Amino acid sequence: MDKVSSGILEMLRSSAGYISGQWISTEFEITRAAIWKHIRELRKTGYIIDAVPNKGYHLVSSPDMPFEEEIHCLLSTRTIGETIIFHREIDSTNSVAMLLASDGAPHGTVVTSDSQTGGRGRRGREWFSPPGCNLYMSVILRPSVSPAEASQIPVISVLAVVRVLEQLNSGLPFKIKWPNDILCRGKKVCGILCEMKSDTDHIHHLVVGIGINVNVTSMDSCISDIATSLKLETGQEYSRIKLSASLLEELEEIYLEWLQERNLKRYIAEWERYSLLIGRNVRIETPSETIAGVATGLSNNGSLILKLPSGAIRKVYAGDAHIANHNS
Ligand code: BTN
Repeated sequence: MDKVSSGILEMLRSSAGYISGQWISTEFEITRAAIWKHIRELRKTGYIIDAVPNKGYHLVSSPDMPFEEEIHCLLSTRTIGETIIFHREIDSTNSVAMLLASDGAPHGTVVTSDSQTGGRGRRGREWFSPPGCNLYMSVILRPSVSPAEASQIPVISVLAVVRVLEQLNSGLPFKIKWPNDILCRGKKVCGILCEMKSDTDHIHHLVVGIGINVNVTSMDSCISDIATSLKLETGQEYSRIKLSASLLEELEEIYLEWLQERNLKRYIAEWERYSLLIGRNVRIETPSETIAGVATGLSNNGSLILKLPSGAIRKVYAGDAHIANHNS
């Protein structure tokens, strides 16, 4: 959106009544015809703006589209979300964010999109990303920590999302499925893909990619048994803009707090409370083996602690978790 359109929008938003064309014209030093052109552009992007002769313009409603301007209005973070890059359609917000980060985009830059044509999940899976209904967001982080410490960031990210989902007061039972899926009544509602560029001892950047099934009601047939959305579970629509802003707020808060200690101690109890796996017989599939045991906890560095049938304790750092005797 150009600067003048965004300025006009800001003016309309901050007034409960009508704003005269004369006032807008003086404020932005543009003609009435130019104002009209900007109003038309805003309407095209989904804003409902009433225009009444001799009264002026009034913003009736805004589209639930994660535009930079809309998220910014609700944001009071220090750095995360200072720059938000919105796309209507993109292959993957993570891919774009990784490229931007390689080109030097600053810490806290966010990429959002209304839809993705190549949304990516963990282990090369696809992420169903239709337009007009869900949240697809990637955040660039540049922490001065070691790659080993950075491996804790997926844990704090998933906690940030769970906290935001809880704040919706939907009454839904959200569960974290290690490493970083969020499930509701056994079906996936959110996935997080963290990608990192680093040397052996130094991080260049990290991208936290968050996908939340918000208002989608028709799932791809191949995932309808395993995925759900907030709307499918509650019958209610949720604002993607409010969710995006809350997420960035919560992510910044937990990230800055974690950065001071760089271990997960203070989050473990909360994480375990939401965990789907703790106390259950699980099977973890890693690229090289399948490990079975009872999940007993989360370690300080984010690995899942398993008690094996032999009684031995084993920490698993990565893999796909399945509850034994379940298909999930
Ligand atoms: C998973 O469950 O395997 C992770 C899914 C992560 C999906 C999000 S949507 C926004 C960002 N862009 C992507 O291409 N992937 C992540």
